Amino acid sequence: TSAIDRFDLFTLVFDILISIVGGIIVNRLIPILKEKFIRAQLWGYDLNKRNSREVKIAESQGVIAAGIFLILMFIMIAIVFSEHLHPLSDFPHNKFIEYLAALLSICCMVLLGFADDVLDLRWSVKLMLPLIASLPLLLVYFANYHSTTIILPKPVRPLLGHQWNLGILYYVYMSMVSVFCTNAINILAGVNGLEVGQSIVIASSILMFNLIELQGSCSEEHLFSLYFMIPFIGCTFPILLRNWCPAQIFVGDTLCYFSGMTFAVVGILGHFSKTMLLFFIPQIANFLLSIPQLFHFIPCPRHRLPRLNPELNKLNPSEVEFKKKDLKPLGWLMLRFFSAIKFVRYREYKMHDNEVMIATTNFTIINTVLCWTGPLHEATLTRILLLIQIIFGTALPFFIRYYLVKFFYES
Ligand code: UD1
Ligand code: MG
Repeated sequence: TSAIDRFDLFTLVFDILISIVGGIIVNRLIPILKEKFIRAQLWGYDLNKRNSREVKIAESQGVIAAGIFLILMFIMIAIVFSEHLHPLSDFPHNKFIEYLAALLSICCMVLLGFADDVLDLRWSVKLMLPLIASLPLLLVYFANYHSTTIILPKPVRPLLGHQWNLGILYYVYMSMVSVFCTNAINILAGVNGLEVGQSIVIASSILMFNLIELQGSCSEEHLFSLYFMIPFIGCTFPILLRNWCPAQIFVGDTLCYFSGMTFAVVGILGHFSKTMLLFFIPQIANFLLSIPQLFHFIPCPRHRLPRLNPELNKLNPSEVEFKKKDLKPLGWLMLRFFSAIKFVRYREYKMHDNEVMIATTNFTIINTVLCWTGPLHEATLTRILLLIQIIFGTALPFFIRYYLVKFFYES
């Protein structure tokens, strides 16, 4: 017997229908609003096109998807709780607050993302924003569950025990999840279609996971997540169509933060944050690879996106150059390590004044793919990166979650 009832089924169907309508509205709005964004100076050059300096492309179009998404969610909340609206019913305030806090966090992050697009905030500030936006979420978690205990995997139990109560550390972990999810998508960016493409693949992975788990004991949490994921996919799909190479619009940091926070919210309140992080395996790899540049062991240019070879109309890895003597021992170690495992490629050369210089490809998996494959057309590169997302961010996690997990946890 299924754990969801007829009313849940009705709300799901309704969710799908309004998501389709939402998608159509976003699709209609983009051409109308695009010019207004450009007039408001919200535009950028598509750096990897031959005529890059001739066309202004509207930025931050993710805010359109986010706006319609929020409207759909307001409607959805009314539908989900309509069951309890007659006076004799017990209104589930706990559940209700979860929806509101989830939307508050997402809404906050959209606002902050838009502020980032307009003001071009510094890195340290970018890291702080999701920390603040996740506070409502943590408060609700505190009010509704307080459980901060984790079950340890079987192999380490003889040493460390069956479970640990992480206490305050669990809240630190959850806010780290929000910080990671929002920024991880933003730094795996720079080729047309990639930011929104990976977001849709992650959303689809979460959606499939929720559908599978709908039969299980936590169906309510997974239903909650589905109510968010379906409109998310509906509203962002038209963005993907127009952001695909050659891009007519850019998504902006708004979309990266919006999608990251939406995933963090459903992962945390749906109690599947560990599984959700598995869907971020490519982003985790990209983040680990980015550490040397993010923390300035190796210089980090404003843009790390690949560089166009105009004759071939294909992309090459972009490089950063610096004096060898400026490199600190730890930076040198990181450079040697990532070059040994072939994730970056560097060369040394002498300037005319005998100064030894280093030129290395930038530390992102986008450039790594180019190092491995040789020059690629932009659309081909996006396809390969999305394929990597599907293999390592969808297929592998499902294998781990439903097969390997047997060796670590009892089901
Ligand atoms: C992040 C990356 C940066 C990357 C940039 C590209 C880090 C630390 N930061 O910065 O390396 O170059 O995203 O989005 O990893 N653009 C294109 N084609 C695209 C997408 C973007 O040319 O497909 C350019 C456009 O000029 C656009 C600009 O990038 O206006 C947007 O960059 P922004 O999102 O502001 O960069 P960050 O998120 O700060
Ligand atoms: Mg960005």
